[in-house]
This record gives sequence, structure tokens and C-alpha cells, in this order.
Amino acid sequence: MCGIMGYVGKKQAGPVILDGLSRLEYRGYDSAGIAVRDDSGDVRIVKAAGKLKNLAEMTQNGSSLEGTCGLGHTRWATHGEPTQTNAHPHISLNEEEHSGAAVVPQVTGVHNGIIENYQELRIKLLRHGYRFYSDTDTEVLVKLVDYYYKKYKVGPIDALAKTMVRVQGSYALAVMFADYPGEIYTARKDSPMIIGVTEDETFVASDIPAILKYTQSIYYAENLEMARLIPGQAIFYDLNGDIVPKTPQIAEYSADSAEKGGYEFFMLKEIYEQPKAVRDTISAFTPDGEVDFSAEGLLPDDAKNVERLYIFACGSAYHAAVLSQYVFEELAGIPVRVEMASEFRYRAVPLEKNSLAIVISQSGETADSLAALRKAKEQVLKTLSIVNVSGSSIARESDYTLRTPAGPEIAVATTKAFSAQVIVLYLLALWIGSGKGRMDRERCREYLEEIRQIPEKIEEILSDKTKIQWLASKFSNAKEAFLIGRGIDYAVSMEGSLKVKEVSYIHSEAYAAGELKHGTISLLEKGTLVIGILTQKDLYEKTLSNLIECKARGAYIAALTGRGNSGIEETADFTMYVPETAQPFMGSLALIPLQLLGFYISIAKGLDPDKPRNLAKSVTVE
Ligand code: F6R
Repeated sequence: MCGIMGYVGKKQAGPVILDGLSRLEYRGYDSAGIAVRDDSGDVRIVKAAGKLKNLAEMTQNGSSLEGTCGLGHTRWATHGEPTQTNAHPHISLNEEEHSGAAVVPQVTGVHNGIIENYQELRIKLLRHGYRFYSDTDTEVLVKLVDYYYKKYKVGPIDALAKTMVRVQGSYALAVMFADYPGEIYTARKDSPMIIGVTEDETFVASDIPAILKYTQSIYYAENLEMARLIPGQAIFYDLNGDIVPKTPQIAEYSADSAEKGGYEFFMLKEIYEQPKAVRDTISAFTPDGEVDFSAEGLLPDDAKNVERLYIFACGSAYHAAVLSQYVFEELAGIPVRVEMASEFRYRAVPLEKNSLAIVISQSGETADSLAALRKAKEQVLKTLSIVNVSGSSIARESDYTLRTPAGPEIAVATTKAFSAQVIVLYLLALWIGSGKGRMDRERCREYLEEIRQIPEKIEEILSDKTKIQWLASKFSNAKEAFLIGRGIDYAVSMEGSLKVKEVSYIHSEAYAAGELKHGTISLLEKGTLVIGILTQKDLYEKTLSNLIECKARGAYIAALTGRGNSGIEETADFTMYVPETAQPFMGSLALIPLQLLGFYISIAKGLDPDKPRNLAKSVTVE
């Protein structure tokens, strides 16, 4: 979603802000803008529809804007078209400015999130003489801050507090006041925002990669918290205007981790980082060679007492949940219910008390997943989150957090974070299974040993990608593809299908293999690509017979299976083998070729797999 980058310090703000915005591009956006304030108090604003390079060209990479304090924004349109006028920053003046001419608005601001009652606030402000040049809720928000600032003749913090009490919705807001040169003020509710400091500079951004190059010293802004940013310092306030003492934390990422490191695309880099992500995840939760979550506050008795699991997530994280359902049933023997967070939040699902609700989210900020967590919290015993971003909202609001140490994920399509999530879920299944006495220590150790070998096996798959590249180029002009499987293989189909469709724009569908006959098979034509996933031994024959049915209707059959199943070549037109591991964990291996397939089709079509159209990395609105 939208990206914020603000700077106050000794450097020229323009180039720093544009650099930070470029590191937030992965979040998805369709217009961008920047406002820099010079020493005389003039603010210069430049905005552009489309890619950041337009803004960079218009401002000579930010250097044409004089001043050491400024705000930048990449906008993913919600209210109003992605036009230059609707792009942020917005100002409290009645007329817009986006050409770099000097203006002196009392309030200049950028915002992520959605102001739900903006129509009502707009009418109120119109009555007070304000006029609006854009269709955005952000312009209303900026003007409301201006209104309270002038009406009550209070300082910026009080004006922001009054605004926060009045608005409904979510926001990460950063503003400059004409009366307070060299200062930025922020406010946050349910939208991500971090603040970084060095000795003489302060940054505000939507995500850590924007500022990692400059500092690893990070503050996480809390919900309903405001901050005053001056060079080298951030002072936090609660809604009453009282100072909230806070110390910065050191970001666990290195500056290099958010760079491409020799790869042309982040997606490929992250696919290749999976062995490490998986290895680090296993080490994090097996400190003495056995699964142990006590450092996260989960004790063996907690495993014994859990009677049921509810898992909530969106997108790929939801697919990780679906995959884990089979693993939990098999290894832990407890009932699991997996729900799309966006569906669950508006349903009246009664939850059993003695259950653990798990929310899975790479970003830890997905609005629907956060809402599902809050809803589940009211009913269940405990909540647990699996997130990749520490300090994220979902991590902070859950009782326990298991953080996947996958490092920053920049490509929009998730790969390494997904693989790490799945490993945490395997370990949780082992932990509950052994805690409940479903499996003895020996069995648990054997499974753990299998999990430990997964990184090496992923490396092996990644070491030869020529077959997948061949398949990708053969089908790069395909209109559609079907991925089918049963059980865990069905879950892999779901995630594989999403990978293919989101970066290659080929319409691809995942079907439970047994469901094909109930309607979908009528779509098959001569040459339609059907990818069968057959890693589960007890389901192999069943899925094979479904593939034979597809072949009989003219489909091109690509099979993805474990090494031992060479008999598949009699049916399949194309076969891809992955190494074997224990059956419950085969999904971790089978998915890798499908991630590569999506990536290479995208490349074959000349697309940018890192930034698929219309998508945002962190979906902080409903
Ligand atoms: C697809 C993808 C998305 C995310 C979904 C949830 O490749 O990345 O489907 O999985 O938007 O995001 P998080 O995990 O941040 O909650």
C-alpha cells in the first residue's frame, strides 16, 4: 500500500526522500509526490501520476527542491483516481500546488490508510470556508488538522490529538506546520509507521527498508500515538498530550538485506534465500535441538491444553494455513479450522473457548488479518501470531508471537516468508503433537530431522532450473492454467497457482483434483496446461487418474512429483521431480518449482515480477 518517507536533518531532504520512496516501491503505488520546506519557510511540492521515475525526473532526483525537512509519498489509490491532483502531499490551502512553486500552507501532510468519515468531515470543513481541490480523504484530514490548530490556537500535538479523536478509520499521518520549521509531526492508528534516528537526523517511514541505509535505530510508533520529530530526536505523546518515554530498538535487518545483492529481481533473490530462511527458522525454534517456544512464552502445558486451532490469514498466508491444516491433523491430531480473515471478520462464527487462534501474516499489518485477530481475541483462550516483521500491529496485539527470521521481503509476491511460515507451522504441529502425547519423542525427533534436511533439498531444486525455464517459455503465451492436487498437494496448487497468476497475469486456477469433474473439466481444450501435483503417496493413484482424464480431453499434462514416481512419465507430457521428505512436509519442496515457474513466465513476457500491476505488498485497507 502507500509509502511514507519523511526526513529532517542536515542533508538536503529531496534526494533522501526519493531514495527512501524508491525502497518502498514494492508496497505498490500509482502516483507519487514530495514536499520540501526551505529555510525561508517556503514549501515546494511536486507530484506525478505513475511511476516514481516521473517524480525523480521532475525534481532531478529530488535535488531541485531546496531544504532539509520534507515529506514524500507513494500513493495506492483508494479515494479518488491515481491523478497528479490526488497524489500526496496535500496542503491546507484551498488551491492545490504540484509544480514546485513556493507556497506557505500552515499544514502539509501525507497519509496512509482510510478515513472512513471523511465525507461528513468534508461537509463540516466546507461550512468553515475550506475548499477542496482533490477527491481524497487525506486532503480532508490535513485540513481538519489545520482547522483544529487554528480554532483552538493550540500546538501541533494538541491539534493532532483533537483530529485523532474526531476521525474514524486508519492512518499513518506525517505533517509539517508552517509555524514549526525543521519539525515533522506524526500520528498513527492501525497503519504501519516507523521512525528512525541518527545523531542529527530523524526519518519517518512506512517500513524499515526505506531507512535501513541511514540507520538501524528504530522506534515503532504505537496505535494512537503522536510524535514530534526534530533532527536526531523523536518525542512521543499519547492522546492526552503527555510524553511517552520510549527507547529505539535496533532493526534486526542489515542494510544489505534490502538490496538486490547481484540479482536482477528481488523475487528471484528471495526464492534463492529460501534455504537460509528455512534454516534460520528451524534454528530459532529448536534452541537445544528440540522444538521449544518457551522464549516466546509458550510452555509445554500450553500445548497440552489446546483443544482446537483456528487459523486466520489472507492470500499466500492463507495458503500456508490450508497446508498446515493437513499437517496439524496428521501430527497433532487436533481439529483445525482455517478461515480467510476477510470472510471471518464479518461472520458470526462461534469459537470454542479452549482453542488457540493463530494469525499468519508476513507484514503483520494486513487489515483483515488484524481485524480477525481482534475478533478472535474476544472468544478464545489465547492468540498467537506468525509474522515476519517484528513490532508490527499483529505481533503487538497477539498474546504470543513467533517471528519468522526470513529477513525483509521486498518482492510483492511472497516466497521466502511463505516458506518460513510453513516451517513454523510444522514445528508447532510437532510441539502440540508431542505435548498432547500424540507422538513419542523418538517420532518427533525423526520428523524434526526430516525438517532439518529441507533447506538442503530446496538448494538441490534451485540448482537446476532449466526444465522449469523451458516450461515457462513454452507456456508464456498461455491464456490459462490449472493446478490440481489432493490433500497437501491441493494446498500447494493453491499457492502455486497464485504465484503463477499474480506475476505472469496468466489466468490460473487451483482445483482439488477430485472436484474437476464437477464442472471445471469442461474448460479444458486441446493444449490447456494442467499441472498435477502428486507428492502424497496415498493419493498418487487418485490424482493420476484425474490427470489421465484431463489428458483424454486434450490437456497438456505437467506433473510435479517425488523422485520415486517415474511411472508418471507414461501419462505426463512434462515431469518435474523434487527430492523426497516425510510426507507431511513435501509441500515445502513441491512449491519451489512453481514459484520459479511464475517468475520465469513473468520474465518471458517482459513483465516486472517484483511489482505486479494493481498489487500492494502490505494490504492495510479492507
Ligand atoms: C501473494 C502475497 C499476498 C499476501 C497477502 C497477505 O504472493 O504475498 O497474497 O500473502 O496479501 O499478506 P501478509 O502475509 O502480509 O498478511
